[in-house]
Amino acid sequence: MIIAANWKLHYGPAEAATYFQQWIALTKGPLTYPERQAVFFTPPYCWATSHSSNVLFGAQNIHTENSGAFTGENSASVLKAMGGQWVLVGHSERRQWFGETSEVTQKKISTALSLGLKPLLCIGETLEERKQNRVEDVLKNQLSLGLKDIEVTADLALAYEPIWAIGTGLTASTQDISATHSLIQTILTDLGFKKVPAILYGGSVKPENAAEILSTAGVSGLLVGGASLKPDSFFSIFQG
Ligand code: PGA
Repeated sequence: MIIAANWKLHYGPAEAATYFQQWIALTKGPLTYPERQAVFFTPPYCWATSHSSNVLFGAQNIHTENSGAFTGENSASVLKAMGGQWVLVGHSERRQWFGETSEVTQKKISTALSLGLKPLLCIGETLEERKQNRVEDVLKNQLSLGLKDIEVTADLALAYEPIWAIGTGLTASTQDISATHSLIQTILTDLGFKKVPAILYGGSVKPENAAEILSTAGVSGLLVGGASLKPDSFFSIFQG
């Protein structure tokens, strides 16, 4: 079970250090919930802090290439060298604001896996696409292109994040979450994948709805944005 915190563009080193001090006090060390792992996706300048705090961490993005003339990018190999384990790929904000296509997500996943990093591929539909009954087409497209020639191993995970639920306070119903997670499994099987990766849910997860979502069929974890910014609220989600 993975409970992941996506801090987005929030917090610098000082806030991150305070956060992790509080987090360690709440969890009393990383072994309190051995069946659950908390992963933090922090901005690059927090990496050193998270590294020293005994928590799993990762990046919100990597470049497709490991080195070269790519001004402003961060590489998977540096993330790995810093002790990072996870990387978000294809978050809807990357797709929306930075033009990240499913072909690009495929390259990033391939780069991450080749270095032993664990990619968490985010997929999901807009409200308009859901209203037009296009959820299956959209997810099939994101999965077939994003996972082209990728072997599904335990190192890869998916996050189903309906775009209309991200940062809006609107959460998908547990019926919709369960139906869509099952749809994703069917799509993967139809595409010829022998294994189905862990599928997390993300989109306005908060302490009040986390336990119910976590106990929904097909849900193997949570990706939490806004509610991960306060250690006590993320801890209450983490506890389930
Ligand atoms: P949210 O963000 O929990 O604030 O909706 C989730 C995400 O963007 O991963």
